[in-house]
Amino acid sequence: MASYTGLLAACLAATLISTSAAAPASMPTTQAAGPPGATGQLYGPETLEGPGGEPVDTADSAIVSHYDLVPGQQEEADIGLYLDLSAVRSPQPIRGTNGGTDPGPQNLMYEKANPDLYARPGTDAGDVRNAKWPMGLSTNRPGLNGAGFARQQNTDELPAATAMAGVDMRLSPHAYRELHWHSAGEWSYILNGSVRVGAMDDLGQTTYDDLTTGDVWFFPAGMPHSIQALGEGAEFLLVFDDGSFSEDATALVSELFLRTPKQVLAKDLKTDISAFDNIPQDELYIFPGTPAPANLSAQNITGPGGAIPKNQAYTYHFSDQQPYVVPGGSVKIVDPTTFPVSTISVALVTIEPGAMREIHWHPTSDEWNFFIAGNARITIFQAPQASQTFDYAEGDVGYISATESHYIENTGDVPVVLLECLRAPKFTDISVAQWLSLTPPQVVKDTIHLSDQVIANIPKYKQYIIPGNTNYTTTNFTVNGNATPS
Ligand SMILES: *[C@@H]1O[C@H](CO)[C@@H](O)[C@H](O)[C@H]1NC(C)=O
Ligand SMILES: *[C@@H]1O[C@H](CO)[C@@H](O)[C@H](O)[C@H]1NC(C)=O
Ligand SMILES: *[C@@H]1O[C@H](CO)[C@@H](O)[C@H](O)[C@H]1NC(C)=O
Ligand SMILES: *[C@@H]1O[C@H](CO)[C@@H](O)[C@H](O)[C@H]1NC(C)=O
Ligand SMILES: *[C@@H]1O[C@H](CO)[C@@H](O)[C@H](O)[C@H]1NC(C)=O
Repeated sequence: MASYTGLLAACLAATLISTSAAAPASMPTTQAAGPPGATGQLYGPETLEGPGGEPVDTADSAIVSHYDLVPGQQEEADIGLYLDLSAVRSPQPIRGTNGGTDPGPQNLMYEKANPDLYARPGTDAGDVRNAKWPMGLSTNRPGLNGAGFARQQNTDELPAATAMAGVDMRLSPHAYRELHWHSAGEWSYILNGSVRVGAMDDLGQTTYDDLTTGDVWFFPAGMPHSIQALGEGAEFLLVFDDGSFSEDATALVSELFLRTPKQVLAKDLKTDISAFDNIPQDELYIFPGTPAPANLSAQNITGPGGAIPKNQAYTYHFSDQQPYVVPGGSVKIVDPTTFPVSTISVALVTIEPGAMREIHWHPTSDEWNFFIAGNARITIFQAPQASQTFDYAEGDVGYISATESHYIENTGDVPVVLLECLRAPKFTDISVAQWLSLTPPQVVKDTIHLSDQVIANIPKYKQYIIPGNTNYTTTNFTVNGNATPS
């Protein structure tokens, strides 16, 4: 086993959440009362929308400093040797010059058990349907020359996931995701590192912004855009508002040039056809780049159309939004209330060990969720009588159809961090406890035969998270002889 040490151990001291958020003075909505002790707001201030904030914190690192490669991993990807990842502490999706290090959430058990999906042989291509698709692990498509990789989950892997599809993309320092556009809207959450993004809309309005760990962007369908990793590289989660969307079906500018008569290109760009002698002879997709100038202003191109206005911004500095903190965890939401351009509404939820996201459902949208950290379980109740309980670990994707009730219980000893993504114009959920507490007690008693005392103690506010403890054999959650007061 060869041992590799990466660049800067200091980069590990990445700050995930910066604390420079403005006071929530200009809150767009009034918020209903929550549990005793709850502080903060579900939504962020308008100032987080679009470019113009503080420069990003470049200490947010996506550098992986320590990892081991197993025999065969340094061989050319096309040789495609079997890689025994079972004993390696920190497996990496690398084969020869294909792929790159993986700074983001990893479900190590799946990765070690499926080395040929995690670091696919260079001769593999596309997706073969009806094969094995372990949750939380998808075909890993490498970029050029160590520039990164992408892996996706769409209806090929999760047939029920029709409303949204996900892609986990890694860009090495300075690497580009090639200039492109596509048929679906693209929401993204940065898991590690920092990027510079840019886009132009149909009015010729442009936007350029630097985003870091915990920030969000949205590119509406059809809008051409660019993504380049800054000096520490990046990994980000993309959520598309179409479950059958495939990352392999994006329209790349290199392919556009390759598939258009050169005479037409020459006429369109007012030049001689010899100008196209050196265009790439294949797609670039993910490829190494030259370092972006540190000052965003140097690349902040605007034309006669001006900049995309702030209230239609394609970026949102979600990392600067302070969460709504409740006993047992926290919630923060970014949806069209504060980020109007997005078709995806998202809650970033933190659940303390033993605590639980309360039993609820989403009235209008399916939920596509991604576990950033921790271990949890979810029981999905599907009317009329089916239910199934699933266990999740960091790096896993879950899917719950609209109106199917569910909870998310932290089953481990570290906080669970997850994104609940809805394809909806607002993040909404129905709390089962709140519904029962706001139903006449007589009706509840006649129906589910609970005692007057239990019914009286169900809070009338939405709890979001229920505190608990890490003794997972506990069955009596009575607090001080009573449930929490309403
Ligand atoms: C990337 O983010 C994940 C999730 O927060 C974290 O577990 C991991 O340590 C980060 N990687 C680096 C290199 O900071
Ligand atoms: C970036 O460049 C602009 C325009 O040249 C300049 O006004 C600004 O001060 C620069 N910012 C930094 C942080 O150097
Ligand atoms: C980019 O240009 C727009 C329009 O001129 C301007 O509003 C914005 O502040 C600029 N951003 C930077 C970082 O220079
Ligand atoms: C966990 O809770 C169960 C049931 O209340 C109790 O019997 C057991 O002693 C507890 N275990 C620990 C380690 O506290
Ligand atoms: C549950 O816990 C409460 C508070 O500790 C206690 O008063 C009650 O007797 C317990 N109930 C049962 C059935 O053990």
